[in-house]
Amino acid sequence: MSSNDLDGRVIAIAGIGGGLGPLVAKELADAGAAVAGTDRNQELLDALPEQLGIPAERYDGRAVDLLDEEATRGWCAALVERFGRVDGLIHLVGGWRGGEPLHEASLADWDFLHGLLVRTVQHTTRAFHDQLVRSGSHGRFVLVSAKQAQAPTNTNAAYASAKAAAEAWTLAFADGFEPGGATANIVVVEAILTPRMREESPDQDFPTFTPAEDIAAAIAFLCSDAAAKMNGQRLPLTMGR
Ligand SMILES: NC(=O)c1ccc[n+]([C@@H]2O[C@H](COP(=O)([O-])OP(=O)(O)OC[C@H]3O[C@@H](n4cnc5c(N)ncnc54)[C@H](OP(=O)(O)O)[C@@H]3O)[C@@H](O)[C@H]2O)c1
Repeated sequence: MSSNDLDGRVIAIAGIGGGLGPLVAKELADAGAAVAGTDRNQELLDALPEQLGIPAERYDGRAVDLLDEEATRGWCAALVERFGRVDGLIHLVGGWRGGEPLHEASLADWDFLHGLLVRTVQHTTRAFHDQLVRSGSHGRFVLVSAKQAQAPTNTNAAYASAKAAAEAWTLAFADGFEPGGATANIVVVEAILTPRMREESPDQDFPTFTPAEDIAAAIAFLCSDAAAKMNGQRLPLTMGR
């Protein structure tokens, strides 16, 4: 990705404060984009531009609860007021519940994951739809999904089902865009290897994990003009098993 591939684009990142978010923000900002992140922790959001070396005029961080549809629409409106438009939306809100066989697991896990992994996708895509369409061939939505969505295991039923629902929603979102217009795609990983995990376990091998840096690069590619013709696709960054 060269340093000006995304010059002038405004890209919103939902869940910027997690394991992957800061690396994605840095990758997009290094390619020239203005990044607008949300999370629930304003302090963390305020610290990010300095940590990542993103100029203040190309960064916007505001705490929003993405489970609240009105607040999510308000976030989009605030970005349009500040930057004049939004070209991209990267959905990185995550979390996990599971580990027990599905006939023993609490269905409260499903309720929690449905909110976190499905409702936040619904709220953000509905809120930003008009902006992405208005951005035409620069309009982008990217979801980061899990291999579990297509290869569910018994002790991960709620998580796999929620990710599968988020994928179907994303493909339906993609279906609504005109040829040559905005796009929506899915990056698939099994698990994310963050710099912090590497630091904490320098001797551990993570054979099935995808480095966060590689995921950030894939997202930047999907935001670039090189991916303008790619819509409604799953891009797996996983081992082919
Ligand atoms: N980590 C993995 O191994 C893995 C594997 C496959 C797919 N993925 C997917 O990859 C993406 C990024 O993963 P990640 O590990 O970076 O995610 P994460 O750290 O679990 O979550 C990202 C951020 O989302 C925020 N968030 C949660 N609920 C929110 C809400 N209602 N409103 C606003 N922000 C909210 C979290 O803030 P709080 O800290 O305040 O909750 C967190 O900072 C996710 O979509 C995840 O499902 C991850």
